[in-house]
Amino acid sequence: MDTQAILDKQRQYLWPNHILYYTDPLPLAHGDGVYVWDTNGKQYLDFFGGILTTSVGHNNPHVVERVREQVGKLIHSSTLYPNENHVALAEKLAEITPGRLQMSFFTNSGSEANETAIVAAQTYTDAREIVALRHAYSGRTSLTMSVTAHSTWKLGKSFSPDIKHAINPYCYRCPLKLSYPSCGVACAQDIEDVIRTTTSGRIAAFMAEPIQGVGGFITPPPEYFELAVEIARHYGGVFICDEVQTGFGRTGEHWFGISHWNVEPDIMTMAKGIANGMPMGNTIAVPEVAEAMAGKGLTLSTFGGNPTSTAASLGTIEALEEEGGPARFAVLGDRLRAGMDRLWEKYPLIGDVRGKGLMQGIEMVTDRQSKEPAPKAVAQLFEETRERGLLIGKGGLYSNVIRIAPPMTVNEEQIDQALEILDYALGVVHETIGVP
Ligand SMILES: Cc1ncc(COP(=O)(O)O)c(C=O)c1O
Repeated sequence: MDTQAILDKQRQYLWPNHILYYTDPLPLAHGDGVYVWDTNGKQYLDFFGGILTTSVGHNNPHVVERVREQVGKLIHSSTLYPNENHVALAEKLAEITPGRLQMSFFTNSGSEANETAIVAAQTYTDAREIVALRHAYSGRTSLTMSVTAHSTWKLGKSFSPDIKHAINPYCYRCPLKLSYPSCGVACAQDIEDVIRTTTSGRIAAFMAEPIQGVGGFITPPPEYFELAVEIARHYGGVFICDEVQTGFGRTGEHWFGISHWNVEPDIMTMAKGIANGMPMGNTIAVPEVAEAMAGKGLTLSTFGGNPTSTAASLGTIEALEEEGGPARFAVLGDRLRAGMDRLWEKYPLIGDVRGKGLMQGIEMVTDRQSKEPAPKAVAQLFEETRERGLLIGKGGLYSNVIRIAPPMTVNEEQIDQALEILDYALGVVHETIGVP
């Protein structure tokens, strides 16, 4: 099928609410490592990795081999039958996740993993209410859209009244109009205010992403999670950490993002990068939370923990380890960040650079004084980078944040090449929009 035929059929047969990047949407044909090719044969450096999902690059040989071997043996079994890959992956995740997280329930997506986490927290605590953060993104099911705090990502009409939202630690646009560090991280205190004023006073969980992904890579200050989790636990809640974007070494130094903040979750959810693109979600919990689910009602997941996706996940983790693991991704992340900081010095359209490791964002503004969001500049930057062979992501409530998150198998040369394209493209945007 040629490019036009794909685009025509997309319009004719797929729901129009599928969001497509670029003015002329970009059908992809194949990939190899950090590169993808479109249906016209043009090559791109993929610095968004299928939304932070191709952790070890497209068609990674470890993953391909594991999957190829498995599909020849047994593609599917359902959770009604134990299988070797299922238990081996659960054991591996217990090993690499922080603290006492030990028991897994595998599903097919981040949304499902988060739903599972909420049900587990409610069952374990025998409480209903969940405190989440504004600017969060949690998924596309009704319950996870209730947790999501972006009006643009909340479809439908039925949101759970049990989800309450506290202000988030968005230092660049502090909701309290304070500055770090003199603020004393006052935003964390809002969790207590929300619990005391909008809940029964006893919560099931505090739920948050270590770095808000869709929110625009909003990165909390170092003290935030210790303060937030202490408040949540004081009011009976467990801490659900959503590592769907931040997991598997993405933020450098640690396997999971939350370890930068020195707290141990009671429940952690993961998806996206867990299996390099094969569908999978997982909810891992400390033993007492998992055990509280026993005897409370029947549950299963038809596809959860299937032998093929778990094979892909085992291959992904092996490849990440072989690549040098989180320590190596921290070094690469530092190089990427240093380059982005240089771009900040050069272009006043960049209001903020933030993130950790290989998860770095650029918030674009019309000028640094007003901090007026600049979504048009982002839209133009998208077209300019595409033209020059670089794929990037975007996010933020105002669609004005560029999200950069290449496969973790990226090398120094590819990072430099991406920075060069960004530099050139920002120059063009600057010229078009005018220097404020
Ligand atoms: C932090 C976070 N949680 C959950 C989800 C939902 O995952 P999925 O799209 O696999 O359902 C996403 C998706 O972008 C996410 O970024």
